[in-house]
Amino acid sequence: MFVILSKDYAELSRQSAGIVSAAIRKRPDLRLGLATGSTPLGMYRELARLHREENLDFSRVITFNLDEYLGLAADRPQSSHAFMQTSFFDHANVAPENIHIPDGAASGDLDEYCARYEASIQRAGGIDLQILGIGRNGHIGFNEPSSSLASRTRIKTLTHQTLEDNRRQFPEGQSMPEAAITMGIGTILDARKILLLASGASKARALARAIEGPITASVTASALQLHRDVTILADEQAAGELSEREYYRRDFEVDSRLRRATN
Ligand code: PGA
Repeated sequence: MFVILSKDYAELSRQSAGIVSAAIRKRPDLRLGLATGSTPLGMYRELARLHREENLDFSRVITFNLDEYLGLAADRPQSSHAFMQTSFFDHANVAPENIHIPDGAASGDLDEYCARYEASIQRAGGIDLQILGIGRNGHIGFNEPSSSLASRTRIKTLTHQTLEDNRRQFPEGQSMPEAAITMGIGTILDARKILLLASGASKARALARAIEGPITASVTASALQLHRDVTILADEQAAGELSEREYYRRDFEVDSRLRRATN
């Protein structure tokens, strides 16, 4: 794992957008896995700026979102659909037919629906770059503790902690969805490259357990230790409980120096 320590949220947002934009410039039809949540908002803003000011072209990019609340239709303001629309798609030129987000209003055989979402990822050729946030309980997507590390897209019940963390998105008095459709850990691990973003002190413990703790279904982000190409971008506060911070700093410097020398 390559751990990059950012000074603050603004730098983390710029660096993550830089990684995504470099991948798109290299491969204009990039298959890009996207995440909702407050963490990637700055990255989306910076990607929109790159589109506006530096001709970053999303017209051939194919996107797959990690998750959606079960029971929330696309037009509900708290849905992943609405979040993605207002925070990113309204400001970039991703073709509507290239956008994939699980349908929270899916009905009938939900297992079959989830299998079809998996199949759509396969049909597109798999995800080249997957963006992830991390929950306070170490979840990625809505893969709550106890999720199988081989899981695929499916329905997952949300923990009390996740419900509490996400309550701010819902108007007071409105009941929250109890479950979500989420890509599984196995789905995420199939991505060719993974970029996890962590910001703020509330993520410090989860991040330390994910990177430096044992691989366990109790902290599903720890499964990323099994992946061959993971970059973790953490701001100072989120990195606060990492015991190997000095090593990560040096690793970044040495790596940058070697890349400059060989390019
Ligand atoms: P956040 O959510 O970016 O809003 O903190 C992250 C997550 O729960 O995965």
